Amino acid sequence: MSTEIERIYREPPARSSAIPTAPAGPVPPTMEIVLDGRPVTAPAGSTILDVCRAEGIEIPTLCYLETLTPVNVCRICVVEVTGSRVLVPACSRPVEAGMEIRTASERVRRSRRLILELLGSAVDLSLAPGVAALMAEYEADPARFGPPAPPADAGARAAREPGHHHRPSGAAAETVAQPVTIDNDLYVRDYARCILCYKCVEACGTDAQNTFAIAVAGRGFDARISTEYDAPLTASACVYCGNCIGVCPTGALMFRSEHEMRAAGTWDEAAQTTTDTICPYCGVGCTLTLHVQGNEIVKVTSPMDSSVTAGHLCIKGRFGYRSVQRRPEEPRPEEPPPEHPGPEAPRPEHPGPHRLRPEEPGPQGPRPGDPVESGGTRPA
Ligand code: SF4
Ligand code: SF4
Ligand code: FES
Repeated sequence: MSTEIERIYREPPARSSAIPTAPAGPVPPTMEIVLDGRPVTAPAGSTILDVCRAEGIEIPTLCYLETLTPVNVCRICVVEVTGSRVLVPACSRPVEAGMEIRTASERVRRSRRLILELLGSAVDLSLAPGVAALMAEYEADPARFGPPAPPADAGARAAREPGHHHRPSGAAAETVAQPVTIDNDLYVRDYARCILCYKCVEACGTDAQNTFAIAVAGRGFDARISTEYDAPLTASACVYCGNCIGVCPTGALMFRSEHEMRAAGTWDEAAQTTTDTICPYCGVGCTLTLHVQGNEIVKVTSPMDSSVTAGHLCIKGRFGYRSVQRRPEEPRPEEPPPEHPGPEAPRPEHPGPHRLRPEEPGPQGPRPGDPVESGGTRPA
């Protein structure tokens, strides 16, 4: 060994304790645009929404989420671009050099107001964060379309003839009101709150889960989120990751625990604390945010900016908290520890770590595989 190599071997140079960072990538070229009358320099490739947010201009969004591919369906984010025949969706339209954008013109405001009025007249938006403030800001009046039509019976909307568009009476505003679908133990689907933003479809599909258990069925006003052939979730491809719940902006998809606590009047977000921890079930290391009320885990989410999860989890992270905490109504079996059976005694059949015995009632109603119970009442 040469002297120099021996010296390095015996006295290695001090190493930095700093976490290595990736080398800086090429800085994207910039372009000049005009935003609400002001010249602005914008990075090439950014969307109008990106630039507006960087400039502190508030643009409302409903179907947009940073972790999902834009689908441009709600059109609440539209802005006016000089030379464009129609208003353009800010969430997906990239900026172009020389673009002149108006984010709050009368045409933009009128379009957003109408969208809010149509949604507000047809959908229960009471659990959609921020929508009440938008209604006030845009002076939306959903009641001008008349009183809401009576709710559909359970399954009636799904049974409508495809492609058939019935003529509304004109006396009442058509709505998507319908009973809550409760067909499993983990989450409920309250499509009276659904604005058809497609986020759940994207999260179930290529943007996260790649399970494709749900999609949009029907056309026009009859369009709705559905499993294949409207099968119960328990008979669908659903794997209960709950990623659709995580992205739903209106409360249409909801933990069953939250649904039941809201129905009982005990859901109190102000009294809830959140704690970030790491999922203990496997080595991936997903960040879990435990929502706790009264020393009880009431739901589990994951931070959208987590580099591991981007807000998405699997069934173990999302619903596995049930194994560390029984719901109050769930009876704890009072079983004395079995005596040691001895070497000749037959081995008792093990029921499995999480499986309930047939005579033991489920904690919150039916379990996957039980018949569909539809027509649940919806909490206010
Ligand atoms: S729980 Fe997961 S698999 Fe099931 S519908 Fe939602 S996103 Fe798809
Ligand atoms: S269920 Fe929720 S996420 Fe899915 S389309 Fe309706 S509002 Fe959007
Ligand atoms: S947020 Fe842009 S179209 Fe919905």
